[in-house]
Amino acid sequence: MRKKIVAGNWKMNKTAAEAKALAAEVAALVKAEVPADVQVIMAPPALYLDAVQAATAGVANLAASAQNCHEKASGAYTGEISAAMLASAGISYVIIGHSERRQYFAESNAQLAAKVDAALANGLTPLFCCGESLETREGADYLAFVAQQLTESLFHLSADDFAKVVIAYEPIWAIGTGLTASSDQAQEMHAYLRGHLAKQYGQAAADACSILYGGSCNAKNAQELFACADVDGGLIGGASLIAADFITIAKSF
Ligand code: 13P
Repeated sequence: MRKKIVAGNWKMNKTAAEAKALAAEVAALVKAEVPADVQVIMAPPALYLDAVQAATAGVANLAASAQNCHEKASGAYTGEISAAMLASAGISYVIIGHSERRQYFAESNAQLAAKVDAALANGLTPLFCCGESLETREGADYLAFVAQQLTESLFHLSADDFAKVVIAYEPIWAIGTGLTASSDQAQEMHAYLRGHLAKQYGQAAADACSILYGGSCNAKNAQELFACADVDGGLIGGASLIAADFITIAKSF
């Protein structure tokens, strides 16, 4: 049985007071309403990780995640936060390779491989993002393009390390656009990626890997997306900023 996961990527949103309030609201609702077999994750701006993590105390299926980490352990990298630092602060998840990091901060597949290594070496669970642009989607090779992202950033991992990775498929054309992938489009990609993972790590390891969908996933469409055989949850942007919507999504399995 694969783990069901709903993660909220808050991106660069919320003041400190708003973040605290949202985390408290989500925590209360997860405790009261979300089944124990659904892992819920909040990924706030790093500045609020401590406060958000504090709000998760006592809620077994709720955790905090960073949105990024640096691949080096420490050093002269002004403005950066390392995986080692996140681990030292008790954080257990980190989003790696979000398309916004790839696009605006020029993160390459090779650099993301190093970040995945850093996360795993420090006991963090990487939420590894992949996905294609609209231009790529309109061509013939969009499945292979996304598979290649996995090959270049994950396939150096041992089977033991690979087993700790969560994957999030986020078509760039669906992020923040209100354009969701249809359940057929999501299922096609997720099944393809699982097949790709099976070639490298074997069917059992591929079957055990949670693959989340992200991109305009909301309280209305989550149920249809999560009903797909190979969709194991969601990485939620905009809708994770409203506690009630986020919780509706977490209850959509
Ligand atoms: P939206 O849900 O706002 O489209 O964002 C998706 C996303 O990028 C989550 O990481």
